[in-house]
Amino acid sequence: MRQPVHAPGPSDPLPFERPQRPSREELHAADPLPIPPTVEIGPTGRPMPHLPEPPALDGHGPARIVSMCNQKGGVGKTTTTINLGAAMAEFGRRVLLVDFDPQGSLSVGLGLNPHEMDMTIYNLLMERDVTLDDVIVPSGVPGMDLLPSNIDLAAAEVQLVHEVAREQTLQRVLRPALADYDLILIDCQPSLGLLTVNALTASHGVIVPLECEYFALRGVALLKTTIDKVTERLNPDLVVDGVLGTMYDGRTLHGREVMERLVQAWGDTVFHTVIRRTVKFSDATVAGEPITNYASSSAGAGAYRQLAKEVVARCHGG
Ligand SMILES: Nc1ncnc2c1ncn2[C@@H]1O[C@H](COP(=O)(O)OP(=O)(O)O)[C@@H](O)[C@H]1O
Ligand SMILES: [Mg+2]
Repeated sequence: MRQPVHAPGPSDPLPFERPQRPSREELHAADPLPIPPTVEIGPTGRPMPHLPEPPALDGHGPARIVSMCNQKGGVGKTTTTINLGAAMAEFGRRVLLVDFDPQGSLSVGLGLNPHEMDMTIYNLLMERDVTLDDVIVPSGVPGMDLLPSNIDLAAAEVQLVHEVAREQTLQRVLRPALADYDLILIDCQPSLGLLTVNALTASHGVIVPLECEYFALRGVALLKTTIDKVTERLNPDLVVDGVLGTMYDGRTLHGREVMERLVQAWGDTVFHTVIRRTVKFSDATVAGEPITNYASSSAGAGAYRQLAKEVVARCHGG
């Protein structure tokens, strides 16, 4: 027979004396805890780590190749390519920017005229006798060069379909540049077509800029699937270096909520650095310069320098 469960009533004596909790003073006297340093909470809602100045290099290369990728347009891919590249060059890195969008915004953003280009990345991809040196131009920023592009690149997407190893074409043509640069940044077009697959196949890492707007997370699943497919089939070493919140407005509840969702979805993949919304970026584009030159002491320039430090700390082992 089951025994009735004895439920203790209010008059039940306690089986033993409740131990007295030690006071804070007693605890500290027994085991003094180090006083925690003041923790600054960053814009992503996580404690902001200390990001050291990137160490000086005593030589250059081999380059790490990173694609700036999101199939949505207007999220800050081109702006991030120009300004992260320029900030890295300020830190003594040799940088090559690759304009891999037929719209040529990266080239225009660095002051080039799309109708006055002798050779573009299209020639490098499609013509066997064209070398990197024939196409690379200085960007106007010391230590940073550019492989320009214009609308011709749209034809490459169609023509590449018939090539052998069509997904590896960009990887093949960039190979000779690895020894000369520390970082190669590829500005992808807003699509997940063959050009973007070429960029991902050539890359060691991907940075995903995401506009801090309500619908920003839409489409990211598809991007993740594409990255996973490239990793499985073409480039097993590819890693997501980070997700970058752009056009952030921390003054609005909306902005903060989107940031919270971003961190919920991507966790520590989200960079601690966040790029705030400011018209200075469009002004710099019109001037054909990176913001680090155009408005060197602006908050926007500072944010990209901080991103450069975070990228070095995360991806280059210090
Ligand atoms: N943080 C920012 N604040 C305000 N405007 C920005 C910011 N980043 C980019 N922009 C502007 O938004 C537009 C789209 O940015 P862009 O970098 O060209 O995006 P994508 O390359 O993804 O299409 C450009 O006019 C650019 O100047
Ligand atoms: Mg762009």
